[in-house]
Amino acid sequence: MRIVLGVGGGIAAYKAASLLRLFTEAGHDVTVVPTEASTRFVGVATWEALSGHPVTNSVFDDVDQVRHVRLGHEADLIVVAPATADLLARAATGQANDLLTNTLLMARGPVLFAPAMHTEMWQNAATRANVETLRSRGITVLDPAIGRLTGADSGPGRLPEPEVIFDAALALATPPSDFLDVPTPSEDAPAGLSLAGRTVTISAGGTREPLDPVRFLGNRSSGKQGVALAAAARDAGATVTLVAAHMDVPAPGGVEVVSVETALELREAMRAAAVHSDVIVMAAAVADFRPAAVSDTKIKKRDDADDPVISLVRNPDILHELVQQREEAGRTQLIVGFAAETGDEHGDVLGYARAKLERKGCDLLVVNQVGRDKVFGQDSNSVVILSAAGAGPESVAGTKDQVSAAVIRRIGSELGRVVPHI
Ligand code: CTP
Repeated sequence: MRIVLGVGGGIAAYKAASLLRLFTEAGHDVTVVPTEASTRFVGVATWEALSGHPVTNSVFDDVDQVRHVRLGHEADLIVVAPATADLLARAATGQANDLLTNTLLMARGPVLFAPAMHTEMWQNAATRANVETLRSRGITVLDPAIGRLTGADSGPGRLPEPEVIFDAALALATPPSDFLDVPTPSEDAPAGLSLAGRTVTISAGGTREPLDPVRFLGNRSSGKQGVALAAAARDAGATVTLVAAHMDVPAPGGVEVVSVETALELREAMRAAAVHSDVIVMAAAVADFRPAAVSDTKIKKRDDADDPVISLVRNPDILHELVQQREEAGRTQLIVGFAAETGDEHGDVLGYARAKLERKGCDLLVVNQVGRDKVFGQDSNSVVILSAAGAGPESVAGTKDQVSAAVIRRIGSELGRVVPHI
């Protein structure tokens, strides 16, 4: 694929070098078009060396090749990272005052902007309007990640991680396959961070807690997220065990499946698998309570007796137990939890999620923002990945496949730090 990588003038310009690497290592042909301002951060020579192509930002170089027309026309995809407030403004108003803005006006394929700027600039009404204008024209503008910015400040405005931009960009150029299809093993393992040689255990679906031989207490989990994660881990080269509670979707091919029904069964299966796992992902919706007594026979209505009252007892917190067992056994292992949060008058999504990360003691917490969230303004397929190690929160939006690929990538990068590869 022919990709134009536009680089705006911000401190995050250096991160575009990693993005360029991901593209070229995945076999794409990349031409870098930096803005004049960005060359104060990263020089033209760097882009030429890394891309293997001549680099300019002037429409007056090599005029005979009509570069500003050719680049835009021939590009299968244009990615601008980092996109500054100035660049978004120039693109939204259709200006053509350098090679990058000319190229954007000539674009025939998809265009993606990955913004990076100070929070105030991102939240400024002018920038909001420019982003809305671009989005209304079918251009993808990612939300910036939240975290530490150039100075001491932090908030939304960080350039999303190169892996996240890479995933979003390729998903734009290649329509995602329906994750309900049983995925076939991919020849294209996600570039950069492979899980080859790693053992990954993922729980998925919703547990069912029996009341009698025909009834149970359950939940609405479909298992789709866990299945998409298992497929993404498998495609990244991992040996995958899927501990599957009730699921509405089939398990992916190429993974070992351990079927369970109750929280206690899921706990046993996870304990057993944890002993030889480099990574544990608790994506299952585990019932927090189970009926205190299970009737061997069907519970009948009786006119001569009171209606039954169901007493519940607490199920163990499996995620927390797995963390404790890891400590007791002295295992090096990466443990990932999931959480669904809405935020309320007492706290926001991130506040609740941070508290949960600490309470559970896991290394990463993938937070589903249920419904539209005021902070991020993203839909229900958006997640925030929180890390106990202090690396900034990362927001990812897209289909469950795209979100899973991003989670697996993040696991890959955290894993290098936590668990030495033997
Ligand atoms: N989980 C678990 N065992 C349980 C309940 C949950 O291992 N008995 C795991 C889930 O698989 C998920 C994470 O814990 O990875 C978050 O669960 P959640 O229900 O959101 O958190 P709670 O601690 O129950 O907090 P609350 O319901 O108050 O938000």
